[in-house]
Amino acid sequence: MTKHKKITTHVLQEMKESGERISMLTGYDFTLAKIIDQAGIDVILVGDSASNVMAGHITTLPITLDQMIYHASSVVRAVERALIVVDLPFGSYQGNSKTALESTIRIMKESGAHAVKLEGGKEVKDSIERILSAGVPVMGHLGLTPQSIYKFGTYSVRAQEEVEAEKLLADALVLQEVGCFALVLEKIPAALAERVAKSLAIPVIGIGAGGGVDGQVLVLHDMLGLTKEFNPRFLRRYLNLYDEITGAVQHYIEDVKSRDFPTENEQY
Ligand code: KIV
Repeated sequence: MTKHKKITTHVLQEMKESGERISMLTGYDFTLAKIIDQAGIDVILVGDSASNVMAGHITTLPITLDQMIYHASSVVRAVERALIVVDLPFGSYQGNSKTALESTIRIMKESGAHAVKLEGGKEVKDSIERILSAGVPVMGHLGLTPQSIYKFGTYSVRAQEEVEAEKLLADALVLQEVGCFALVLEKIPAALAERVAKSLAIPVIGIGAGGGVDGQVLVLHDMLGLTKEFNPRFLRRYLNLYDEITGAVQHYIEDVKSRDFPTENEQY
């Protein structure tokens, strides 16, 4: 854990400059957000991956602004130290900077979070500028951008070809220039991610982007092993909670059926 009592965008910038890696995890609810904040995580992303892991949708597209605000406000109530970044959901910012600002203002006012994240490069520049003009910090997101899944067709590694790699680097520079405080790079070759991190002054946080970037992010439910089917190469599972919970629930069922639970000490 770092010496910092409270993580701000400025602290993240200092971490980049001093070479201290930034730790980031997703969080969607009060109980788990409290645990990961107390454990010392630097950034909690209220990701639109809530659409998958919390609601069971196959993409991130269906989650609504109201649902993101519900998740974000639950996380905010739990957190004392981490910086809380909230994903602008699909349809709440693309193509119209006024809508982007209105969505952001709702998130900031109704949840109490600290920053927003959105997907895309120069095509979302106007939206980012407008959000920044209201004083809200913005995190960018390039590489695999799940809100564009139907454009790309697969969740495979992005920017493996020279043309796409150069476009990604150019977009990263635009995001920095316009004023993003940090950038997420998802599922791109490690060498390209390192090149981007070295070319930018702002922190670059990777998921499936290798170790040459300034920090790492994982989806909490995946790294805890609560999910089973999702097994990309970049995912390190620190626990196998799916099997642990299954065992605990089966044990409880047995205890109820056999009348072992409750005992005299567990009743009034
Ligand atoms: O929604 C999310 O969980 C994300 C991370 C994968 C970066 O955007």
